[in-house]
Amino acid sequence: MKLSAFFLLPALLRECIAYTALSDTSLRALPPATDSDFNIKDGKLLAPILIPRVPGTPGSEKVLKHFIDFFTNNLPEWRLSFQNSSSTTPTSHGKEIPFVNLIATRDPPWILDGHEGEVGRLALVAHYDSKLTPTGFIGATDSAAPCAMLLHVAQSLDASLTKKWASMEAEGAGSGLEDHKGLQIILLDGEEAFQTWTHTDSLYGARALAEEWEDTMHPAMSTYKNPLDSIDLFVLLDLLGSAEPTVPSYFRTTHWAYQLLASVEERLRAAKVLASSPKKSFLPEAEKDESCRWLGGYIEDDHLPFMARGVEILHLIASPFPHVWHTKDDDGEHLDIPTVQDWAVITAGFAAEWMDLEGFLESKSERRWEEEKSEL
Ligand SMILES: *[C@@H]1O[C@H](CO)[C@@H](O)[C@H](O)[C@H]1NC(C)=O
Ligand SMILES: [Zn+2]
Repeated sequence: MKLSAFFLLPALLRECIAYTALSDTSLRALPPATDSDFNIKDGKLLAPILIPRVPGTPGSEKVLKHFIDFFTNNLPEWRLSFQNSSSTTPTSHGKEIPFVNLIATRDPPWILDGHEGEVGRLALVAHYDSKLTPTGFIGATDSAAPCAMLLHVAQSLDASLTKKWASMEAEGAGSGLEDHKGLQIILLDGEEAFQTWTHTDSLYGARALAEEWEDTMHPAMSTYKNPLDSIDLFVLLDLLGSAEPTVPSYFRTTHWAYQLLASVEERLRAAKVLASSPKKSFLPEAEKDESCRWLGGYIEDDHLPFMARGVEILHLIASPFPHVWHTKDDDGEHLDIPTVQDWAVITAGFAAEWMDLEGFLESKSERRWEEEKSEL
């Protein structure tokens, strides 16, 4: 019997994701996380999220609108979709509370409607809801700052993705031999418990999304059978933005991705483009080996419903948790902004390598030249 090469190809392609480390020139060309985006008073990305945003309240709607406006006005190539659900909670007195997840996706332009099952994606994920108590809780590290970091990643890579895909198309992309990689930002609602953390009082948005995506089948013969399967790696950011963070490598099966991220951090530091100067790196466990302790599974977070369905997880959560965790002090004033900016740039660098953007990041001198030209 003979297996046709045609049937073997998609499976093989999934195994060999192209990955080129960024050169120093490209690392330096990554857009900086600026004060005008990350200032806690009026920073365009961060400040609008630093308000109470409990699911089903006006604060939540305002923050969701901020995300939608950000993509619609600045990044129109991103496809926005919602995944909505509702549930009673221990504090809702029988009333259904709405939960709205926002998903922003950029796929290669040659992926036409009905072919979504051919794209493998890097999913960058954070929750945007805030905790009901203590009253007035902001949740700056939990997870307003991580959400702003993800907006920064989308904004940083947008033009380079356009350039890269245009050049691939010029070379005849779409013929089926290159891998089709997309980038997805998932902003989840309802992570926090309303009363005390249990399996039913927590992860409202994540549970609804994972369940719905498992049941959303792509056309038969698709490379990826449903939108969950399309996630090559689920990178969850949480509790980031305090000074001197330590993020361990939690999962043996994605330690390779942790090592790539740690290498991006190390090279960005060596290139002197980061703003903070911590005593040790944010990601100190790149050298950890098989015999070490892997703590994955001990921290319950939005990855759980995805992990239970076989999605590969890279969990970027500080351990120990920030001192301000679940207190009123987890607000803008207690963020360490250079650390927030560095996480944004490191995550963008990792995503740029994942999306193979070497050669497509505009150098600063190029940018300055463009600006000068437009001033003439
Ligand atoms: C989900 O909720 C959002 C925000 O309320 C709304 O704009 C959107 O239309 C809803 N989508 C669906 C599919 O119901
Ligand atoms: Zn929390």
